[in-house]
Amino acid sequence: MKKISILLAGLSLFGIQALNAQDATVRVHDAGTGVTIPAEIYGQFSEHLGRCIYGGLWVGEDSDVPNVDGYRKDVFDALKALKIPVLRWPGGCFADDYHWMDGIGPQEQRAYISNNNWGGTLEDNSFGTHEFLNLCEMLGTEPYISGNVGSGSVEEMADWVEYMTSDAKSSMADLRRANGREEPWKVKYFGIGNEAWGCGGNMTPEYYSDLFRRYGTYLRNFGDNRLYKIASGASDYDYNWTEVLMQNLVRKGMSGLSLHYYTVMNWGSKGSATKFSDRDYYNTLSKSIEIEEVLKKHIDIMDKYDPEGRVALILDEWGTWFDVEPGTNPGHLYQQNTMRDAMVAALNFDIFHKYTERLKMANIAQVVNVLQAMILTNETEMVLTPTYHVFEMYNVHQDAEYVASDCLTPRKECDRDIPVPAVDVTVSRKDGNMNISLVNTDLRKSMKVLVTFDNPDAVSSVVSARVLASGDVHDFNDFDNPDLVAPKQFKEWKFTRSGLEVTLPPCSVSALTLK
Ligand code: AHR
Repeated sequence: MKKISILLAGLSLFGIQALNAQDATVRVHDAGTGVTIPAEIYGQFSEHLGRCIYGGLWVGEDSDVPNVDGYRKDVFDALKALKIPVLRWPGGCFADDYHWMDGIGPQEQRAYISNNNWGGTLEDNSFGTHEFLNLCEMLGTEPYISGNVGSGSVEEMADWVEYMTSDAKSSMADLRRANGREEPWKVKYFGIGNEAWGCGGNMTPEYYSDLFRRYGTYLRNFGDNRLYKIASGASDYDYNWTEVLMQNLVRKGMSGLSLHYYTVMNWGSKGSATKFSDRDYYNTLSKSIEIEEVLKKHIDIMDKYDPEGRVALILDEWGTWFDVEPGTNPGHLYQQNTMRDAMVAALNFDIFHKYTERLKMANIAQVVNVLQAMILTNETEMVLTPTYHVFEMYNVHQDAEYVASDCLTPRKECDRDIPVPAVDVTVSRKDGNMNISLVNTDLRKSMKVLVTFDNPDAVSSVVSARVLASGDVHDFNDFDNPDLVAPKQFKEWKFTRSGLEVTLPPCSVSALTLK
């Protein structure tokens, strides 16, 4: 009986499905891969930029906005629900202008500076090391600190690590205690600079390699804290940067090498986040999934110098970058977030999951009010974006076993070389459940998908099913309509003799949990 059903499943993959008029098929190789999807792929990024920190995460204890110890309560609760594994701070470009001592001690004595990277906005340093690390503890998230190489000294960086992580009797640890924190924090991820090829100092990769070694030498492991040092890596297609750093830094203290890749069509004129044509939509998705080629090429270089896989690839900035919302400060990078962004998030995760033997972390830019944000706020209100909902629906894949699958799908041609798959998928397994995420990028057409399994007895029931869809790809959540785009129960599935048949609405992301 089992043999027959395997045969049927096999046939359905290679032709019979045409009789049933499937639009796409997914074959699940449910024997599993033994590869765990690192939770850190779902990381976030928070920079002192626009209203990410101030007004987004932090309002201060005296604010009228409901807060817990100065953290915005609505935002905090939403982030807690998201299960953020790691949060990067304080930048970005801001990191190489940041002097951490400006942000410790009594609030009223902290330095006032101008945030020169981001619109010259006044920075009062009321959110500093204590406020960030305490937030991470409260969220149960791993902090990822970016240190200042561009304009800071080795001594300043070494002192910062000692201040945060030492339990010894030392002037730095004592200063922390005097500022109200007795126990050291645990800090694992530490970035030695950011975009050293650009805003982080305009360096060559050779010069930066030497600086990494020099700064890295003095970043100590205090007590049982173990630093995971991340080198400032390439942007997009700069394969030479990765080549030189791998040549110079493998076995020289580099645990991770970063990469930045933004979904941006044209740096001069990025286009509106909410007003776009069908053509813009497919071109944007094509640009976004080009990240797969970029990841592969950087990984190939890493494999050449590091076949044992000692150094992780850390994609610590990614996401969409459009023109700022009309009427907002151009230096604050505030953009709305539509179903197009939801598609970008889902397609990127489907790609990231395939490369986790090398790719160990990804941090979307950014968590609140900046670029492809999870959350947007005004004075007192908050909305969750379509991207937030994708992160929440996909978080079942965190720390789950990756399950390989093949997807036969039509592809949409666009103005770029990379056509966009109509259907895309991730499958993983955790706690006895199989989680299947399915994307339909087609703007008009529902897609009937037949999901078959190498072992047809692998699953027999659907435990839960949700879908994120909206009538129009331009739809977004705003303060007067905060729930226009939100996940709903998904009922368009049924088990047939061939497998699981699912009808995906146009422009949608679905998440099914099977047993
Ligand atoms: O995320 C905005 C900026 O983009 C970051 O500060 C910088 O690292 C990158 O260029």
